[in-house]
This record gives sequence, structure tokens and C-alpha cells, in this order.
Amino acid sequence: MDGPAGTGKSTVSRRLAKQCGAGYLDSGSMYRAATLAVLRAGLDPEGPVEPVVEIATTCELELVTDPDSPGIRLAGEDVNAEIRGPEVTAAVSAVSAMPAVRAVLVDRQRELIAAAVRETGGIVVEGRDIGSVVVPDAPLKVYLTASAEVRAARRSAQDRKAGRDVDVAAVLADVRRRDRLDSTRKTSPLHAAPDALVVDTDELSADAVLDLLVRLVKERGLCE
Ligand code: DC
Repeated sequence: MDGPAGTGKSTVSRRLAKQCGAGYLDSGSMYRAATLAVLRAGLDPEGPVEPVVEIATTCELELVTDPDSPGIRLAGEDVNAEIRGPEVTAAVSAVSAMPAVRAVLVDRQRELIAAAVRETGGIVVEGRDIGSVVVPDAPLKVYLTASAEVRAARRSAQDRKAGRDVDVAAVLADVRRRDRLDSTRKTSPLHAAPDALVVDTDELSADAVLDLLVRLVKERGLCE
């Protein structure tokens, strides 16, 4: 499940995984936790590349792929809330654009996917390059999209719910900035795989997207 921020990927991916008894992996949480490690080391993600890559590729990440309690730990510490905060959000595009960081995290993602497929028979993975790079032979590829305005409104609502102060105009500017960075980077830029089903969620609720996807995975024999 690929697509830009704020398209409802997390909600829909997690619910789809639960419904199918499959695993769930939020690959963005790995780039976010690696970015948090870089910031905690006192490094500037826009500064010299080598030390940033060193920290981002050697930090200790533990992922839980159970959709009932998904999460990530950095060096043993639960960082699920902190990685969604403004500092990490502002810095993650720079770290995730580094080819050496992507190579290591993509390997980790493939290991986690293989383990979940062995254990539960399947996994729903969300990110930016899952269908195009990480699992090019995935049995179903979905690319969720929506206008920047709708995505910023959804992100603002999420932030408000999480108790963070919200400036909708600033959120919209950040959505646009990250779209630009994520889709123009040299390594694995954000784009729909040619064989992905593109779903525009501007006019669709999460329930409607989920219904559509459940129908699809059942039709393809991927879920009972
Ligand atoms: O999905 P998210 O907003 O939590 O992702 C955080 C950042 O990580 C986003 O700016 C792009 C990057 N990312 C990526 O480059 N590749 C992925 N597979 C997932 C996320």
C-alpha cells in the first residue's frame, strides 16, 4: 500500500490486515525511528552524510507486525509517539532520501515481510516504494492518493486528536514540502508502480476504501 502522507494508508492497511489475519508493517515508522536516532545523536540530517548514515543504519530497531498492537522500539524504548512529532516529521525526508539508509531498511523490511508470510500467511505493508521496489512481485499493489488539501485536513485532525497544536496552513505547507522531496529524490521516488491499482480517496471514507480492498483481496483469493 503506497502513496503520499494523509491518504489513509495506515488506517486502511491496519484494518485490512486485521480482517485477513495478516501481519501489518508501517515502513515509514522505520525511517522515522532512524531519523529520531540521528536527531538524538545531535546530528544535522542536512549536514555531512556519512555520520547520519552510520547512525541511521546501525540503530537498533525492533518492529511488531501484529496489527492489534503494531509498534517500533529504538534501542529497547517505545518511540511510537515521539516519531510522529514535528521534529522527526521535519527531518525524515532528508534521512529517507539517502540511498545507503534505504538499502539497509529495505533489507530489514524484506526480512520482516518474509517472517510474517511464514508465520501468518500474509502481510499488508504500507510505505512509498513497497510495490515499486521492496516487493515488486506483491500479489496486490494499491496506490492511495488524495489532494494535498484533503490530506492536510486529515493530518490536522489526527494531530489534534493526539493533543498537538495545529496550524492547518503550516500542515498543508509541510504536506506539499514532503510530497516534493519524496517524489523528486533520486532513489526510489514516490510513484505508483505500473501495475498498482490507483485509488483516489478525496471522496471516499476509510470504510469505503476498506470495503473496496476487502472485495479485491477476496476476489484474488488472498483473504478468506
Ligand atoms: O508514512 P510516513 O509519513 O510515516 O513516512 C515518513 C517518511 O518516510 C516520509 O516522508 C517518506 C519516508 N518513507 C519512505 O521514503 N519510504 C517508505 N517506504 C516509507 C516512508
